[in-house]
Formats: sequence, structure tokens, C-alpha cells
Amino acid sequence: MATRHLALAASVLAICMVLTRATNPGFVARITVKGLDYARQEGITALQKELAKLKLPDFSGSFKVKVLGKVRYTFYSLNLRSFQLPSSQIALIPNVGLKVSIANAFAQLTGKWKVKKRFLRDSGSFDLKIEGLSISVGLKLGSDASGRPTITTSECGTHISNVRVHISGRFGWLYNLFHKKIESSFRRTMEGKVCEAVTSSVTTKLQPYLQTLPVTAKIDKVAGIDYSLVAPPAATAQSLDVNLKGEFFSLAHRSAVPFAPPILAFPVDHDRMVYFAASSYFFNTAGFVYHKAGVLLFEITDAMIPKEFKFHLNTSTFSAFIPQLEKMYPDKLMKLRIKTSSAPFLTIAPENLSLTPVVDIQAYVILPNSSFVPIFLLSVTSSVSVKIMVTSAQIGATLELGRLQLSLKHSDIGPFSVQLLQALMNFYGSSILIPRINALLREGFPLPLPARVQLSNLVIQPRQNFLLFGADVRYM
Ligand SMILES: *[C@@H]1O[C@H](CO)[C@@H](O)[C@H](O)[C@H]1NC(C)=O
Ligand SMILES: *[C@@H]1O[C@H](CO)[C@@H](O)[C@H](O)[C@H]1NC(C)=O
Ligand SMILES: *[C@@H]1O[C@H](CO)[C@@H](O)[C@H](O)[C@H]1NC(C)=O
Repeated sequence: MATRHLALAASVLAICMVLTRATNPGFVARITVKGLDYARQEGITALQKELAKLKLPDFSGSFKVKVLGKVRYTFYSLNLRSFQLPSSQIALIPNVGLKVSIANAFAQLTGKWKVKKRFLRDSGSFDLKIEGLSISVGLKLGSDASGRPTITTSECGTHISNVRVHISGRFGWLYNLFHKKIESSFRRTMEGKVCEAVTSSVTTKLQPYLQTLPVTAKIDKVAGIDYSLVAPPAATAQSLDVNLKGEFFSLAHRSAVPFAPPILAFPVDHDRMVYFAASSYFFNTAGFVYHKAGVLLFEITDAMIPKEFKFHLNTSTFSAFIPQLEKMYPDKLMKLRIKTSSAPFLTIAPENLSLTPVVDIQAYVILPNSSFVPIFLLSVTSSVSVKIMVTSAQIGATLELGRLQLSLKHSDIGPFSVQLLQALMNFYGSSILIPRINALLREGFPLPLPARVQLSNLVIQPRQNFLLFGADVRYM
């Protein structure tokens, strides 16, 4: 009985772990009401331009006039003069998507008309004012098989409260007989055309734009970032959350990461248009991929040490701490080869970002014929504090090295006191190695932003297990 329960508990746990892995994002982009409002402004400006390009069809019909009988009319050469959308709103519909409401829109158009009835012929021009046009559009967000966001029009409704046609021509009285019919016909045509234009703008403009979100960003020869959506964007009452995989992967050979993304306790902030949460998982998949590719490897040679520095990388310097070196390899240059012995792991906690890398340092003596003789191998750990910088489209970092802890793994030159090397290794680490790593890290990696978007007013806060940063957006 006990074993069955245990097995059951284990399988439930396994399922939970699988589910957690499947759902927790490594990176979240949250668009606040402020951000949606900015998007609405940009969107409405674009829609206004699209609506101004509307092509309205000719239309014709007939009406009955006492004595005369049926009279045919045609309205043609319809030309939109302006289309204004002065007031609009965007609302989040939790679990559904977005709703855009436009009120009090108005348009003006001109055209030509003609009527025909045996002896009766007349033609002229008209202008038409559409007032009190309201449009209500439901937008549904999803994701496609490649993990790109999708957007579709889930509903569209329009209502026009007022259409006024002003006709010029000899038979003004005639027009008055059928203006109601003309106006309602215009209203119907216009209502249909507006929704057609909205739906088409969403399909041909908005959706392709959203799909410029880079779902895989290539970083260098080694790695890329998977920014694909793990679920359709989720609307809540306060924000639209886009949950992304946020995982570095090897370009040469993608393999499963041996740890899972943690749950992110996203705070409720409204000050900025967007907030990003970069999970420790995101950074640690980077460490995992680069370590596995064997590229977290640096060499320090004497050539990298500025002339004025006291401690040159040679056996005379080292023999102050390892006396036997002087006799074994007098006056020789040396080289240090530094390599991670396990993937570096970033810990993110409120107000504290730190790494505790474990590296091997292999020291060599360089012989006159340029061959390297290994002399000792150290294992070194240190706490490294990390500062993150975000620029308008990139996220980068700088490291600051803490005190090193050394232990000797292997010596080819007999025993010596490792502790004596501490200060020297700290010097090489913080003056030579770290500035070089920082130069690489400063370039950083790209954020998941769709085309022509720039960030400003950045704020960064380390939270438990993730880095939160907020920004305002500018669409260029
Ligand atoms: C070794 O380094 C010391 C300073 O640490 C320097 O004075 C000396 O010239 C260097 N020797 C060689 C062979 O480069
Ligand atoms: C930061 O985190 C590291 C590793 O978890 C820890 O050793 C260090 O004491 C922390 N520093 C502060 C200021 O909390
Ligand atoms: C370089 O010199 C050392 C000692 O003189 C010798 O053992 C080694 O084989 C030489 N290496 C090469 C590549 O010539």
C-alpha cells in the first residue's frame, strides 16, 4: 500500500514538474494600460489613414414618384475628403483580449449623381457628411505554431447616427422625395465598408507587424535566444502579459536544459508602458550553453599586462611565492588559461545579483621554442556581483570580482602555498580578466521587441528569481 501511494505521489509530482516546465516562462513582457494606450494612439493614427483611403462603390436604385412612376438614380465617383477619428479607447477584456471603441468619428465625401426617367434627366454633384460614427472592435490574441503572436478581429460593429446629403442640381425637390432612402443606403454601405477596412488593417498591417517580434534572436556563433510564446498573450484587468520561453540555446546542438524556470511573482506596476521580467532561468540557460560549448575560456598572457604594471606574467614574479620556479624555469614568460569547470549560475534576489563561478586556472611556462609546460592547476571560486544595464534595445551586464578562494588541484613543480598566490590572482582577475569579460558583456543581447520600437525611461530592479525592468516605448 505504502509503495503504491509513494508511486502515485511520485507520478503526480512528475506531472506537476512537467506542467511547471511547460508553462513557466523564462521571460515575460507585460504591456500595461499606459502601454496599450500608447499602442491605441499609434493604431488609430494608422487606421485613420487606412479609412481615408476607403473606396466606396457606386450605387444606384430606384424610387417611385407619384404620376411619374419609377425613377432610377445613380451615385458615382464617390470620393472621401476626410475621415477623422477624434476619440477612442482601448480596454482589456480579461481572458478574452482587447476591445477598441471609437466614438464621434466623422467623414466627409463628395460625388456625382444622376437621375433618369424618360424625358426627365438630371445630374449634378453632392456632398455628404457622416457624423456620430462609432466603431467597436474586438481583438483576439493568440500564438501560432512558431510561437509568434497572432491577432484577429473577433468582432466589429459600426453605427452611424447621422448622414446628411447635400445635393446640387435643378431638381432639388426630387431629391427631397428620396433623401431618406439615399441616406440609409449610404449608412449601410459605409457601416459595412468600415468594418471591412478595420478587419483588413488588422490582417494586413497589425498581424504582420506583431510577427516582427524576433522569436529567435541569434547572438553569436554559439548561441541564440528562443523568445517564442509559450502561451497566447493573456489579458488581465491591468495588463496584457506575453509569456515567452526566454531560453538560450546552442546553435550547433540544442539540448534540454537540466533545470526549470521558476515561478515569477510579477509585481503590479503601472508607471511604465512595458515591464519585462527576465528570469534567472533566462540568464542561467546562457551560462549553461556557453559553458557546454567550451567557450567560457580566457587566456591571460604577459602581452595583456600593461607595461607600467608591477606584476608581469613571468617566473620571476611567481618565484616570490613559489621559490622552486626560479631554479626550474629561470626568466621565462608564463600564461594562465582560465576555464569554467561548471556552468556559472546567477542568483537573483532583491537588490542582489551575484554569480559564484567555479573556474580552473592552468598555469604554463612558455619555453623559448614557444611550447607550453603546464606547472600547476588551481580551482578558484569567487562571488561576483553583477550589474545589469539596459539600453534602448539591448540588455548588457558588468561584473565585479569579489575575493578569490583558491585551492590547488594539481602541481607539476612540487608543493607550494596556494594562499600566497591570492593577491596576485586577484590582481590578474580584476585588472586583466574582468575588464575583458565586461567589454563582451556590455554588448549584451537583444530584447524581444517588434520592429521600430525603442525604449526609454528605463528602471531596473532585481526581484526574487528575476530581474524586472520597466520602460516607456517609442514607435519610430
Ligand atoms: C618579469 O616581471 C618583472 C616584473 O614583475 C619584470 O621586472 C621582468 O623584467 C620580467 N621578466 C621578463 C623576462 O619579462
Ligand atoms: C548576495 O547573494 C550572494 C549569493 O546568494 C550572497 O553570498 C551575498 O551575501 C548577497 N549579498 C547581499 C548584499 O545580500
Ligand atoms: C621545446 O623544448 C623543450 C625543451 O628544450 C623540448 O622538450 C620540446 O620537445 C620542444 N618542443 C618543440 C615543439 O620543439
